[in-house]
Amino acid sequence: MAKVIVMDHPLIQHKLSILRNEKTGSKEFRALVSEIATLICYEATRDLPLKEVETKTPVAVAKTKVIAGKKLAFVPILRAGLGMVDGVLALVPSARVGHIGLYRDPETLKPVEYYCKLPADIEEREVIVLDPMLATGGSAIDAISQIKLRGPKTIKFMGIIAAPEGLEALKKAHPDVEIYVAALDDHLNEHGYIVPGLGDAGDRIFGTK
Ligand code: PRP
Ligand code: URA
Repeated sequence: MAKVIVMDHPLIQHKLSILRNEKTGSKEFRALVSEIATLICYEATRDLPLKEVETKTPVAVAKTKVIAGKKLAFVPILRAGLGMVDGVLALVPSARVGHIGLYRDPETLKPVEYYCKLPADIEEREVIVLDPMLATGGSAIDAISQIKLRGPKTIKFMGIIAAPEGLEALKKAHPDVEIYVAALDDHLNEHGYIVPGLGDAGDRIFGTK
């Protein structure tokens, strides 16, 4: 069964409170999304494989560890996932970044794909999919299905707020994908918005609407 980690770290929970506040403007909202992404990424990368190397310090040769292999690719789901990219690259600056463009049809709530560009060597990489909101789960499920066609080593999902409906759907569709979020909210409303949530993440990041 899929591993789900809800990050209850006090720094994340404090930042999430400000993020949810309807009075928080786009500039601060963007900064908080990025900071929360950095903090979640720290945990999501905990099991990256290491290899031992020798490093000459000014005093002696030390046996030290570095990340092994081709490492990571981050794949934000456009648009809102873009808000998490700087935050994760702050920790892993050498990671590759792919992009998947999906929007939810407002009537059907089904995802519609309009763009997909993934790193050429994705099959040698561990992939972390980024999207702040996991609502019905349709966007994350479709994005992960697309990425799986390219055969990466592993896939994880990193979000900020999940609805129980979306979490269950994602676990069922992709039981092999580990899920990292900052909060598990109450439910979805009749428009497919997470309650209490934070509203439309893309609009709040980019100041649209
Ligand atoms: C939002 C959000 C997710 C999706 C979540 O994107 O960023 O991608 O909705 O909903 P789901 O779990 O029900 O699929 P949206 O479709 O609003 O597009 P945008 O980021 O371009 O605004
Ligand atoms: N997408 C958002 O941006 N917010 C929600 O609450 C649900 C989907």
